[in-house]
This record gives sequence, structure tokens and C-alpha cells, in this order.
Amino acid sequence: MTTKDVKNEKLPTVLITGGSKGIGFELAKQFAMHGYNLVLAARSEADLKQAAGQLENEYGCGVSTYPFDLTADDSSTELHRQVIDEGIQVDVLVNNAGMGDVGPFAKSDLNRQLNMLRLNIVTLTSLTRLFLPAMIERGNGRVLNVASLAAYFAGGSNWASYVASKHYVLAFTRGMARELAGTGVKVTALCPGATPTSFAGQAGANAMPIYRWMPRLTPAKVALAGYRATMAGRTTSVPGLLNKVFALLGELPPRSIAQWVFEILSRTPSATATETRRAL
Ligand SMILES: NC(=O)c1ccc[n+]([C@@H]2O[C@H](COP(=O)([O-])OP(=O)(O)OC[C@H]3O[C@@H](n4cnc5c(N)ncnc54)[C@H](OP(=O)(O)O)[C@@H]3O)[C@@H](O)[C@H]2O)c1
Repeated sequence: MTTKDVKNEKLPTVLITGGSKGIGFELAKQFAMHGYNLVLAARSEADLKQAAGQLENEYGCGVSTYPFDLTADDSSTELHRQVIDEGIQVDVLVNNAGMGDVGPFAKSDLNRQLNMLRLNIVTLTSLTRLFLPAMIERGNGRVLNVASLAAYFAGGSNWASYVASKHYVLAFTRGMARELAGTGVKVTALCPGATPTSFAGQAGANAMPIYRWMPRLTPAKVALAGYRATMAGRTTSVPGLLNKVFALLGELPPRSIAQWVFEILSRTPSATATETRRAL
């Protein structure tokens, strides 16, 4: 659905997955206030429409919305096809949509686990592969991948697969940043710490100390840091001073110390994520 004609505006365009809520919506605001048209993709059409209406009213930008479940097979290729068919040039790709699943892995819902890996890893990789060549050809473009502070830690019990998925995002981004040197295209990984959005509730992570006790930056502050790092072409961005300290700790040897600290911060009750989410 195109609520205002994005392709005919002489403005750059950003495509944001998960742009209807949370950090993605705040990133949409940042790009809108800096003169971008927006292409937003998420599952809920109603949320997308509401976000688009608000962004158009506040910033006067063009907003196209694409209701997609990005865990579905071929969703990335279909989204890319529809955007290209609309004649939209994507100058900035923001791979933000992601999900978590907290609880003992052996008791986890396998379908949810696989959907998480598809969304956090496969879709992010596919969309980058699909939109990158045109950026390289133009000698200009940006890709922002939303990873996590968890990517800096060696692993975490009760969300091992989520943490590993964010390791992928950070390692992929760092590798691509080197590969793309000199092309005019820059890739950035945004690594937020605990941020108050619907993410933790849906992941079953609300009981973790990292969500209960740690100071948390607002999604708006996280998005501002992400926008600035993207425009500056920095490879990584960890918003917040305390989070920067934790990220540094995670990089330093011996990594077992950082993993131990992370275990304490992300300790979970024994309930599986499914049970925790049900109790909310
Ligand atoms: N919040 C935190 O504490 C935190 C910390 C570190 C990293 N992150 C990362 O930040 C990113 C954004 O998270 P958030 O906190 O802003 O979460 P959020 O508030 O739950 O927003 C998630 C967004 O992604 C969309 N989405 C979810 N599943 C989708 C699917 N299958 N297909 C298409 N869109 C989907 C949602 O819309 P629909 O539900 O309508 O699809 C929504 O727009 C994620 O990658 C997350 O891993 C979050």
C-alpha cells in the first residue's frame, strides 16, 4: 500500500523491516525528520497503517507499507520484487525486525525457534543480498543491521540461540563492512542493550535482571544512535555508556569472565519462554 507516492518524490528512501513499532518505528522517525521517504514492512497491516499515518502527519514524508511475515519462505524475494516493481529505489536498508525466545532450549517450541532464526538471520541476509547490488552499482548506500549487546558476549544460557543469532548479525556486518570498503556502501550493526519495547514480553525475557534492574535507554535514544552511526558509516554502534562498557568487557580476554557477568545479568527463572509469555 502506498499512502503517498514514494517513488516520484526527489527524496532518498529507507526501507525498514519492523518499522511499525519499537526501535524500528523510532528509526523511521529519525529518517523521516532527516528528509527520507519510508518503506515499512511488518506483519500487522493495522499497525503499519497507524505508523504510516503518524509519520506522514508529523514529517510530511511519503510512506509505503508492505504487510509481510518475514519468517515465511520467499518473503524477502517477494518484498524486494514488489518494491522494485513499484519503481522505488532503496538508498538505505534497515534490517531491524527480530524476535527472541527465552527459556530452556530443550523445552522450547521448535517452530518458534526456527522462525526466530529465519527472521534474525535468513531474512536479514536475503534482503541485504537483494538490495546491495544496486547500491554498489550507484556507488552509494547504507545498510543498518540491528544486532544486540548480546552479540558481544560468548553465549547465554536460556537464550543461546537468540544470542548466537545476534553474533551472526555482528560478524556478518563486520565482514561486509570490510568487503565493501571503497564501494561507497557502508554497513552498520546497531547493538542495543535492554530497551523498553514489546520485544522482551514477546521473548519471555521480562524476568531477566537485564530487563528488570538495568538502566534502559528509550527506543528513541537507541534509534538516534543508530541513525547517526549509519550516516557516519561506522561499522558498530552500542548506544549508552554502561552498554559500551559491557561491550568492551565482552571483547576482552578472557571471554569467560564476560560470559559469567552476562549469565548473571540474563539469569531466567526455570519457566520456558512459552510459559513466561502466557503468564504476562
Ligand atoms: N528491545 C530490546 O531490548 C532489544 C535489545 C537488543 C536488540 N533488539 C533488537 O531490536 C530489533 C527491534 O526490536 P524491538 O525491541 O523494537 O521489538 P518490537 O517492539 O517487538 O518490534 C518488532 C518489529 O518487528 C516486526 N516483526 C516482528 N516479527 C515479524 C515478522 N515475522 N515479520 C515481519 N515483521 C516482524 C513487528 O511488527 P509485527 O509484530 O506487526 O510483525 C515490529 O514492527 C530486533 O531485531 C531485536 O532483536 C531489541
